[in-house]
Amino acid sequence: MKIKNVELVISAMKKDQYPDDGLPEVAFVGRSNVGKSSSINTLLGRKSLARVSQNPGKTRTINFYKINNEFYFVDLPGYGYAKMSKDSRKEWGRVMEEYFQNSKDLKHIFLLVDIRHEPKEDDVMMHSYAVHYNIPVTVIATKSDKISRGAYQKAFSVIRKKLNYTGEKVMPISALKKTGTDEIWSHIINIFEN
Ligand code: GTP
Ligand code: MG
Repeated sequence: MKIKNVELVISAMKKDQYPDDGLPEVAFVGRSNVGKSSSINTLLGRKSLARVSQNPGKTRTINFYKINNEFYFVDLPGYGYAKMSKDSRKEWGRVMEEYFQNSKDLKHIFLLVDIRHEPKEDDVMMHSYAVHYNIPVTVIATKSDKISRGAYQKAFSVIRKKLNYTGEKVMPISALKKTGTDEIWSHIINIFEN
C-alpha cells in the first residue's frame, strides 16, 4: 500500500466528535504498552505520527488517522494498565463502549497481543466483545523481534488457544525491525475489497 497522505483528523472523547464522512474504519485495540501506536506508525511508514511512550496509558483518546482519503486507522486507548485509577478505568470503559456501539463504519478490529505472552483475561474479554458485536477480528502478535522466528508457531498457538480465536491467521509485527507489514497490508486491502 502506498501511503500518499495521513492526517490525524481528530482525537475524540465522545461520539459527536467522530468523523462522519462514511469512510471505513479499522481499529487497533490491545493492552497498554502492547505496541498499538508503534504498529500504526510502522504500518504507515511514519516515525512518530502516533505517540509512543515508555509509560503505559499514553493514548487516552480515540485517534482517527485518515489514510489516502480512503479509510481510517483508529488508535484506541489501551487497557489493563495496573496503575490506572478507578476513575480512569471507568472513563476508559465509557469511551470504548461508546465507540463500539456507535461506530457504524468500523469494519475490522486488529487485536494486538505481545508475542511473548499468553493473552490476559482482559484480552480474552476484548476478543469476546468484538465477537459479540459481530466485528471481524484479526490478531496481531507484536514485538516479534523479541523471540526467534522458530518460536513463532508455538507462540501463535498459545495466543489462539487462550483467546479462542478462530481467525485464519495470527500475524506478527515488529515495529523495531519493521517486519510483518506486507502481510498485514495485504490483509487490510482484502478487508476493504470484501
Ligand atoms: P498505550 O498508548 O499506552 O496503550 O500503548 P501502545 O499500545 O500504543 O504502545 P506503544 O506503541 O506506545 O509502545 C509501548 C512500548 O513498547 C514503547 O516503549 C515501544 O518502543 C515498545 N515497542 C512497541 N513496538 C515494539 C516492537 O515491535 N519491538 C520492540 N522491541 N519494542 C516495541
Ligand atoms: Mg498508544
